[in-house]
Amino acid sequence: MKIIRQNKDIKKLLEKKYKFSFIPTMGGLHKGHEFLIKEAKRRKNRTMVSIFVNPKQFNSKTDFKSYPRNLKKDIKILKRLKVDYLYIPSYRAIFSFKIKNKIYLDSFSSKLCGKFRPGHFKGVVNVVNRFLELISPKYLYLGNKDFQQLILLKKHIKKNKIPTTIVSCNTIRMRNLLPYSTRNNNLSKKSIKLASKVFNLIRKEKKLIKRKKVTRINFLKLRKKLSYIGIKKIDYIKAINLSTLKYAKKHNERFNIFSAFYLNDVRLIDNF
Ligand code: PAF
Repeated sequence: MKIIRQNKDIKKLLEKKYKFSFIPTMGGLHKGHEFLIKEAKRRKNRTMVSIFVNPKQFNSKTDFKSYPRNLKKDIKILKRLKVDYLYIPSYRAIFSFKIKNKIYLDSFSSKLCGKFRPGHFKGVVNVVNRFLELISPKYLYLGNKDFQQLILLKKHIKKNKIPTTIVSCNTIRMRNLLPYSTRNNNLSKKSIKLASKVFNLIRKEKKLIKRKKVTRINFLKLRKKLSYIGIKKIDYIKAINLSTLKYAKKHNERFNIFSAFYLNDVRLIDNF
């Protein structure tokens, strides 16, 4: 695996006219990332992973600082997976050039996380757009756990006619239903147990909505249950229709339940 830190080396590499499957990450690699990489390796393109903790998508300096980082371990994982290129840019390398595309933020950005993390999606679309302008990958691999991010990036790519195809990959979960996430590293054992309870309750709720043929979906009872088991701060629990991206009201819509809640200072999100 070749490690690239400078844009001039990216430019040199592009002269070879390889087709790239690109997996952008902020490091702290886990089984979810591994799945994205394994999926990317199924195509015969060169694989490129980036590790860049993008300050522009964090809402506070403390959150940015406490984001789990472990470059040594990440490099070991990427070598084991036989990734071709690892790109570790500096802040300057990413943010010092003028972009060609116009950052497009679809109105879906004002729902869910967008309501609670002002500027977050703008930061995500900005940084991924920069990666796309630098690398021009044929495929971009993203996980469904960050569904809102994935949709907003799809819309930005379409609007700007960027010749990159997004490949969306399933969420990978532990046996206790907790989705793999870099932020899990900041959870205590007790919090992991509690998070697992939350996700099990949400999964049950979805089954209940379907079984009882609910025609006005609401989560009042679920919120009470979550508060009872010790969840003090919930940003949102919402059913979203996966085709229209509007709030789902009825059992027979194709929807997922999206949630964001805190365990101590750690914010977790999921949807299923
Ligand atoms: O999902 C992430 O880890 C980040 O939002 C991404 C896509 C790498 C952009 O910084």
